[in-house]
Amino acid sequence: MYKKMNSINDLHALAQLTNGFRKSNKTIGLVPTMGALHEGHLSLVDQALQETDETIVTIFVNPSQFAAGEDLDQYPRTLEADLEKLAEVGAQHVFVPTADLVYPPGFSTSITPPQVAARLEGEFRPTHFSGVATVVLKLFNMTRADVAFFGQKDYQQVCVLRAMTADLNVNVQMRVCPIVREADGLALSSRNRYLDADQRKTALVLYQTLQHTRDLITGGLNDGFEIVTEMRQMLIDGGVDNIDYAVVANPQTLETADFIDGPVVALVAAHVGKTRLIDNLMIQ
Ligand code: PAJ
Repeated sequence: MYKKMNSINDLHALAQLTNGFRKSNKTIGLVPTMGALHEGHLSLVDQALQETDETIVTIFVNPSQFAAGEDLDQYPRTLEADLEKLAEVGAQHVFVPTADLVYPPGFSTSITPPQVAARLEGEFRPTHFSGVATVVLKLFNMTRADVAFFGQKDYQQVCVLRAMTADLNVNVQMRVCPIVREADGLALSSRNRYLDADQRKTALVLYQTLQHTRDLITGGLNDGFEIVTEMRQMLIDGGVDNIDYAVVANPQTLETADFIDGPVVALVAAHVGKTRLIDNLMIQ
């Protein structure tokens, strides 16, 4: 049987719990998620369990990071299965707030995200990172986290949250964990379950493109325009329905690199059918 997991639904119980941790000098690790948990999420939980005394996982499908017309209503909600998975890996505490608890009547404050939010995702989802930054800051405060764990899968999200914590002197350390992939390379994502069998095959071209980009760059190609042209061609040939972006960029600022003479990150966002997928690869 699973170890007993503590499921928390209200702020008073959460405050009592975290006050106790603070009094006994225990470090608090936070893993924020929107549920529909997979091995990518669980790798963050594992890391938190290793590095901190008490791990709090949050499950909250945050409405403020979805724009009208995005998949908020269809977003997979699998709470029972999520709780089982968390118990299985030994997560100690799970906080599952309602939307009313996070955004009570009268709520009206939000974070203007840092500059790095404006490009890439920000061009296609202009309100997204304000919603992410606001909810993550709230979760930091609610859980009194010492260390928070995020996936490199959402590369720009990490850049945004790093800049926010630095700019606002937020006293939470950020840890970034590697992207967990299927055996064939597809990055795990809660949205992969929207894909049918053919689309699932097409989706592989995102990572293949990133690997090809790495090979081009390590092989000596350093013209950003040429590289991006190849990336786009490969995605189109692979059958994606629409490319939002395919770039090589500065790993900190995410400014696109015209000439590659140092580490870059390659990032893609593309639609396969109605499903929007993102992936990225660091290239040293
Ligand atoms: P969600 O998409 O549920 O992701 C939760 C965390 O899991 C994020 O830090 C994400 O980068 C990480 N993750 C997702 N897929 C991963 C993979 N294949 N390998 C490694 N890590 C992976 O990101 C969010 O939720 C939300 O924006 C949130 C931060 C919770 C704020 O609402």
